[in-house]
Amino acid sequence: MAVFDKVKCIGTAGEKPVLEGFDDAFSRYNKEEYVLFPGFCDVHVHFREPGFSYKETILTGAQAAAASGYTAVCTMPNLNPVPDSLAHLQPQLDLIREAPVSVLPYGSITVGEKGANLSDLEGLAPYVVGFSDDGVGVADEGLMREAMQRCKALGKLIAGHCEDMRYEDPREREWREIERNIRLADETGCAFHVCHISTAESVSIIREAKRSGVDVTCETAPHYLLLNQRLVQDHGRFKMNPPIHTVEDQAALLEALTDGTVDMIATDHAPHSAEEKSRGFEKSLNGIVGLETAFPTLYSALVGDGILGLEELIALMSAKPRSRFELPAGGDFTIWDLEAEDSIDPARFRSKGRSTPFEGWPVLGRCLLTVHNGKAIYDSEEN
Ligand code: DOR
Repeated sequence: MAVFDKVKCIGTAGEKPVLEGFDDAFSRYNKEEYVLFPGFCDVHVHFREPGFSYKETILTGAQAAAASGYTAVCTMPNLNPVPDSLAHLQPQLDLIREAPVSVLPYGSITVGEKGANLSDLEGLAPYVVGFSDDGVGVADEGLMREAMQRCKALGKLIAGHCEDMRYEDPREREWREIERNIRLADETGCAFHVCHISTAESVSIIREAKRSGVDVTCETAPHYLLLNQRLVQDHGRFKMNPPIHTVEDQAALLEALTDGTVDMIATDHAPHSAEEKSRGFEKSLNGIVGLETAFPTLYSALVGDGILGLEELIALMSAKPRSRFELPAGGDFTIWDLEAEDSIDPARFRSKGRSTPFEGWPVLGRCLLTVHNGKAIYDSEEN
């Protein structure tokens, strides 16, 4: 049994992880110049299987996660079939058993994510991490109220893609539905998590709701923290939903990250084929990949510029999402060389998706080893 006693441990509450076997990995990576973190956790990824495996499979998505320090991911339900019943979830349950990281599926809130009837929430509850209709909002207030009442009884969280299409302006679409869902969460007592917030108004509403004691948390994604409209180019790799907003929105999100209003960073890893992302900004599909760029870009830009401490960043990528979604960290960990200079090169991604606004960014940080359930699921020397 080998104890990782030389590497600097960040975010492991003073514990020095232990590895059984893997003597080679131990001698390579138990070095003072390396840093060990608890395994990262991403509560918002699209692995596209079943239904769209030309974009990503559970295996390719999980390999991208492992190579980037993640040991747990939660998969969104905009699939075919949509997991709105146990029968429709079953194909995903069969596939995730083979994945190198923990893959925790969401069930859909409504049948087919169509917003008309509720899914079999009770039948799905034992097998899902929570419920979401990610990709679309739930327009019908009565339906969302009933979903929250039933999720409250089931002890399950709702992760809301908030976008009320009755409004023209993308910012208003977001904050209007957040405001309504927070009101419903307050009324029903349901645990509510807001997906990918992107505007200053969303930050203010969530900050206020937390102050008044509503059981609400939220995530934002690296692209909303690191980019703003001035940096957006006419290319599909800048196209996602919600879109990137102003410098002021970016500043509000960064402030929310440091004052605790934003609870976690999730990537919204949303791969599409090269062709689907090659149609220019207007016509390309919404979605960019995120797993393989998240830590190096956030570390280089936020920790590097003194906006966020390294411990805080790690908490936002590991302890905080695990705590809200009740996912134990176990002995999972990842070891990084934070001095390694690199640049974001989509050709080296394990994901089938290659479209990222961070292409070509110079970054610091290279993932050396990722361990999940006592097993090395990624070793940079062997891959
Ligand atoms: O950019 C996005 N891509 N936003 C979404 O809401 C859905 C996602 C996807 O599934 O591609």
